[in-house]
Amino acid sequence: MILDVVSIFPDYLAPLDLSLIGKARRDGLIDLRVHDLRDFTHDRHHSVDDTPYGGGAGMVMKPQPWAEALAHVVASGAGGARPRLIVPGPGGVPFTQALARELAEEPWLAFACGRYEGIDERVYEYAAQDLGLQVSVVSLGDYVLNGGEVAVLAMVEAVARLLPGVIGNAESLVEESHEDGLLEYPVYTKPASWESSAGVTRAVPPVLLSGDHGAIAAWRHQQRLERTAARRPDLLHSSAALTVDDLAITSARPADAAELTTLQRACWVGEARANDTHDIPPLLESVDEVARGLQEWQTWVVRAGGRLVGSVRARSHPDHPAVWQIGRLMVAPDLQGRGLGRALLAHAEAQAPSGTAAYWLNTGTRSERNLRTYRKAGYRVQPGEGTFAGTVDLLKRRR
Ligand code: ADE
Repeated sequence: MILDVVSIFPDYLAPLDLSLIGKARRDGLIDLRVHDLRDFTHDRHHSVDDTPYGGGAGMVMKPQPWAEALAHVVASGAGGARPRLIVPGPGGVPFTQALARELAEEPWLAFACGRYEGIDERVYEYAAQDLGLQVSVVSLGDYVLNGGEVAVLAMVEAVARLLPGVIGNAESLVEESHEDGLLEYPVYTKPASWESSAGVTRAVPPVLLSGDHGAIAAWRHQQRLERTAARRPDLLHSSAALTVDDLAITSARPADAAELTTLQRACWVGEARANDTHDIPPLLESVDEVARGLQEWQTWVVRAGGRLVGSVRARSHPDHPAVWQIGRLMVAPDLQGRGLGRALLAHAEAQAPSGTAAYWLNTGTRSERNLRTYRKAGYRVQPGEGTFAGTVDLLKRRR
């Protein structure tokens, strides 16, 4: 991979001579070229910045040195090849592991390190329109650095370590944070029992010494879930690694009423659309009404990373005690399709009292998705209109 970096502080990039990235350069896996922006100035002071038009604090980097520097980089390419241009800046798209993977596929990257208040906007247009480059402004995070150099160090390291041959043990790339949406599990090494200078002895979690690989894998997965839930709950909900087995079904508490109301509304909007009516209680109920429901029904909830993401409720039919009524089966729209609904339904069935002869459900006549789920779970649609207008009832005999 070819990497060109343009900066007014070329020495800032010296750490890229060290460690695995330095070795990759010496092994010829990376061809890193650092250019001094001041080499493309023509005045006595080698000035690269000037005051901003329209006023305001700070200085703006001038277009001319940047245009010449970028043209110089592009001219080094053979056969019409062009680098993808990355401009680090706090106003860019977030730099993520997914973007690192995308950039690792590129044969040639050029980085333009801005300083001060940034680079004259016309440089971006020039790079895209005159030089024909794909230009991406990329941010390391929601904070402001003094310039792009530190961001380039981070990005080059994250990208280069994904190149074949740069990391000796490619397996170590697989279970890393951000690869499957969960953070890494905690790690330990010898000694198994370590005494700190304050005289406190700390042991390695016993499961890691057990030799039971299944138990170790399960423990590590649980640790990843707990860490992600605690530190980055925003990642948890989109993680492909989050499965139904990871989520505990617990009894709802009165304090859950407000969140349940919100989840209900989110889940029943689709029902309103499918059945062409908004006259559906779960869509319209107030928090107080939902709270009352918690007193009249046994309700269970599932939380992921603190957020309420699923629920179901059940009770013995007031007039037919042998019938176990199940309702309000809901899973947050972004977590549907992972088996959570089926698990909640099975849980509600399992809570039925011993005298139960059948489970009862009710859904919209045109709620195709629900009907499919319930049929698969063994429920049969009962003839005629259901208990409520526009609905059907479903029954399943208890075995
Ligand atoms: N330059 C200044 N702040 C930056 C940030 N947060 N990310 C990338 N480049 C920057």
